[in-house]
Amino acid sequence: MTNALDDLRVALAGRARANEPLAAHTTLRVGGPADLFVQARTLDELVDFARQARRHGVSIFILGNGSNILVRERGVRGLVVENQCDQFTLDIINSERAILRAESGAALPGIANRLARQGWAGLEWAIGVPGTIGGAVVGNAGAHGASIADNLIGVAVLDADDARRELPKTELAFDYRASRFKRAKGEIVLRADFEMRRDDPQACIARMNQYTEYRRRTQPTEPSVGSIFKNPPGDPSTPLRASSAGRLIDQAGLKGTRVGGIEVSQVHANFFVNRGGATADDVLQLIELVRERVRVRFGVDLELEIEIVG
Ligand code: EPU
Repeated sequence: MTNALDDLRVALAGRARANEPLAAHTTLRVGGPADLFVQARTLDELVDFARQARRHGVSIFILGNGSNILVRERGVRGLVVENQCDQFTLDIINSERAILRAESGAALPGIANRLARQGWAGLEWAIGVPGTIGGAVVGNAGAHGASIADNLIGVAVLDADDARRELPKTELAFDYRASRFKRAKGEIVLRADFEMRRDDPQACIARMNQYTEYRRRTQPTEPSVGSIFKNPPGDPSTPLRASSAGRLIDQAGLKGTRVGGIEVSQVHANFFVNRGGATADDVLQLIELVRERVRVRFGVDLELEIEIVG
């Protein structure tokens, strides 16, 4: 361990663990160790850990639910902070509107479910999205034709100069599975605020049930990171995504293709499932194999939807 890492470990006063295996912190159950690993339970802790890492010149990676990342075998250098800041409040403005303020480590489906059952509409689509609020904002997570950007109003961040700032949605550069936080690293999402609309709880619950049923029918349940690739853009004159990565991989005959412990799902071809003992190298090899076959067959260059870390 370098001096800077050692000094940071001392500064974190027994809170940080060295060489923590990250496989246990990702939904794919794959990946090597973090040099240093710490769990933040409050936003003040999260800010403090980030400031201390920067002061010691140690790089920092914020981990949410680990549901959209592939950690390489060599692991992650520097400090990994697992974001467990999960508080949220609902400010009721009037009989029609409320503002949800959610800390970035809160689980998206849990919040969606709680609010829908109280008759607050806007996040029902997220019932089966196994991420944190922060991860969902960074990647503009979406499903069933909706995305996190739709009813987001703004966020609070720790900026690259260690200052807390509020940013309105207009400054977040949202796009399909993209945001300013994907492009420029160095800012940490602390909180996100959403506009919620009053609706009949039974109608909200019915929508959630319909989305859950669709997922149960079309997506695998084994360990995965959800969609591996983005859906490729269609006609450039429309903002619609005209084709589906899953359909292309399926039509290239790749369902069931396996490298080591990782396999193209038989249920949905844009999901790779861990059949047991998969390594990050297996996953990277399968990504390249699938990309190459789809490129040869359809002339389409699939772009990764997941983030490769380490
Ligand atoms: N399809 C196939 N074969 C397959 C998979 C899909 O032919 O193996 C066809 C389906 O029959 C359908 C079309 O492809 O006609 C689209 O499939 P689906 O409705 O499953 O949606 P998707 O575009 O593959 C997107 C999101 C998912 C989200 C679903 C449901 C992306 C990359 N993926 O998938 O998001 O859950 O819609 O709304 O945009 C994620 O981002 O991790 C994720 C799971």
